[in-house]
Amino acid sequence: MKPFDFQPRTRIVFGSGSLARLGELARSLATTRAMVVSDPGVIRAGHAERAAESLKEAGFEVRLFDGVHENPTTDDVEVGRAAAADFRPELLVAVGGGSSMDCAKGINFVFSNGGQMKDYWGVGKAANPMLPMMAVPTTAGTGSETQSFALISDAETHVKMACGDPKAAFAVAVLDPQLTLTQPAQVTALTGYDAIAHAAETFVTARRTTLSQMWSRDAWRLLAPNFERVIGDPEDAEARAAMQLGASFAGMAIENSMLGAAHAMANPLTARFGIVHGQAVALALPAVVRYNGQVCAREYAVLASDVGLSPHSDDFAAEQLAQELIRLREIAGLAGRLRECGVPEDALPELAEDAATQWTGTFNPRPVDVPSLLELYRRCW
Ligand SMILES: [Fe+2]
Repeated sequence: MKPFDFQPRTRIVFGSGSLARLGELARSLATTRAMVVSDPGVIRAGHAERAAESLKEAGFEVRLFDGVHENPTTDDVEVGRAAAADFRPELLVAVGGGSSMDCAKGINFVFSNGGQMKDYWGVGKAANPMLPMMAVPTTAGTGSETQSFALISDAETHVKMACGDPKAAFAVAVLDPQLTLTQPAQVTALTGYDAIAHAAETFVTARRTTLSQMWSRDAWRLLAPNFERVIGDPEDAEARAAMQLGASFAGMAIENSMLGAAHAMANPLTARFGIVHGQAVALALPAVVRYNGQVCAREYAVLASDVGLSPHSDDFAAEQLAQELIRLREIAGLAGRLRECGVPEDALPELAEDAATQWTGTFNPRPVDVPSLLELYRRCW
């Protein structure tokens, strides 16, 4: 069996209504000043204010930073760093989706360690201690709350930089499924599909271990059946809870096994054509599963049987899983073809060049290069 080194870094507090415990939980990390990092949509939904109230009741002076945008950039991080330099927080509390959580990590890197975001591109580049952080996810998707990576886009080049460090992991993640009830339907579809992709990709990466597969598989079993339920009935509290927990488990899987070619293909689609991450992943994933079937059919047979499909043989498992992923994509109302998303056919060679440079692609179980990625894009076009 493959060796591993697993250290849980994030305390996970899960349960309906658990946001009320935020202040009490924060007291174990700091005592006086907390900066809440959020975005305008989440603030409008009232979640940031409820978080701030809980912190104030526990004796904190609170500053709200509302400058997070979708797919946060180095500019967002710089504005947040300036706010932190002014307020001098002891604790950062991210309230929102992956963008808020990643932006909080980004702010923490440059506030605690100086320099610019690109100095932390890669793994383990922060020499000094970082502020403790808490995460309150309001979407069920990225799993950023259980990962030590911040995805920050360069404001000029639009390149997505994965900046990871064990010190950038959240000390506590407060998972309150009630908060995900306010997600707009489109956000439920996009973030939910992204989480499903995390489970399916991590289960087969070249870095997978027995332990990472445990997270991936339980994430898959929570996410795949409940995705359909939350799309059909957004008020289904049990299904919402399963999605939120599944997304966090998938985050643990990413932390311990990385991702694969569907994410390598998705990133250039976002950078060049502004296709939102969940949609970009949804375009690529079924084709990548078919491509990978040659080397990990047995694993795909496990995932297929977990959702009630009974592959007649391992040979058929990848195709069956790909069809299930297409079915879920259609239920969610997501586009299935690149051409429907404004991608011209003559852009495919450049997309393949970009995708081949993505670090995440190096963990795909079946190696990918420019010609194979071009073929994959063609199949998705
Ligand atoms: Fe993703």
